[in-house]
Amino acid sequence: MNKPVDSDRGVSVIGLGAMGTGIARTFIHAGCQVSVWNRSRGKVDALVAEGAAGCASPEDAVRANDRVVVCLTDYEAWKTIIDTNGLDTCFEDRCLIQLTTGTLDRVREHEQYILGHGGRLADGAVMCYPRDLGTETSSLLMAGAPDVLEECDSLLSMLAPSWTNLGEDVRKPTILSRALMVDVGLSLIGVVNGVALARAGGISLDVFLEHTRNVGSIIPEEKIRLIEAIRDGNTSETQASINAWGEGQKAVRSVAKALGTNRILQDAVSSIFEEAERIGLGQDDLAALEKVFESEQD
Ligand SMILES: NC(=O)c1ccc[n+]([C@@H]2O[C@H](COP(=O)([O-])OP(=O)(O)OC[C@H]3O[C@@H](n4cnc5c(N)ncnc54)[C@H](OP(=O)(O)O)[C@@H]3O)[C@@H](O)[C@H]2O)c1
Repeated sequence: MNKPVDSDRGVSVIGLGAMGTGIARTFIHAGCQVSVWNRSRGKVDALVAEGAAGCASPEDAVRANDRVVVCLTDYEAWKTIIDTNGLDTCFEDRCLIQLTTGTLDRVREHEQYILGHGGRLADGAVMCYPRDLGTETSSLLMAGAPDVLEECDSLLSMLAPSWTNLGEDVRKPTILSRALMVDVGLSLIGVVNGVALARAGGISLDVFLEHTRNVGSIIPEEKIRLIEAIRDGNTSETQASINAWGEGQKAVRSVAKALGTNRILQDAVSSIFEEAERIGLGQDDLAALEKVFESEQD
């Protein structure tokens, strides 16, 4: 059963995919009066059964509450909803909490659009699975005007008790979330590529798994060391130079070649180390590779 509804606790949620449903459900469990809209009606009905009020149109959802969370596939989907349903006049005095993943241009354009139509905007990026919302392991990066973030604080705290305020530049959550996703994405792609190599070479995945646990155990600490070394400008002291790492990665490439696996990842890694050597970083710590990525090379 829902907790008693507080009159300040009304919120609309537009977009009930995996994340939007998780968001709406978290608000319901926290005792909010939640109005929901989604393109496919089945997802609305499922939340109505849990205590939400279903809206017949996105306009009804925007008008139902001062604070409106939007969580869709991308900003293009939100623009389609706005255009198709003629929402231009609905944002006056509304506070939009935009949690859709976007590009920097789209995030900026959207800010101008909402402010230009009399609305207020908090823009953010969810950095956890829907199941983690509202727990200590949730993570939510937000930006917006200080008064708007203050207005949204109670709702944001329901989603992520220690949500992060990145300031007024609404592009910051996108930048930080994408910067973090480079690491997550490449680490996971690396594991999958390693599996392909191991399997092609007749190594059992149980053995691979056991050794991944051991070898991988240094990674969290090593990541922190690299970030601190870059922050402190200390990239010359090293246990293993960029040259040594480059040789190791060349050996991976030759094993991949011998086993006949696809070398798309190894080719990309090789070009990073070749560039590092070209600009004279060979004897430095791996942290110095940041210089390779600092700016687009001509
Ligand atoms: N899932 C996660 O673990 C996770 C984690 C962090 C961030 N996010 C971000 O959260 C956002 C939503 O992700 P999700 O996992 O919820 O995606 P999803 O399950 O694929 O849901 C997408 C939502 O967008 C709606 N939609 C897409 N195109 C539309 C259109 N043209 N018109 C109207 N509605 C449209 C879908 O409506 P229908 O139901 O009608 O198709 C659905 O509600 C994304 O930006 C994602 O990057 C997700």
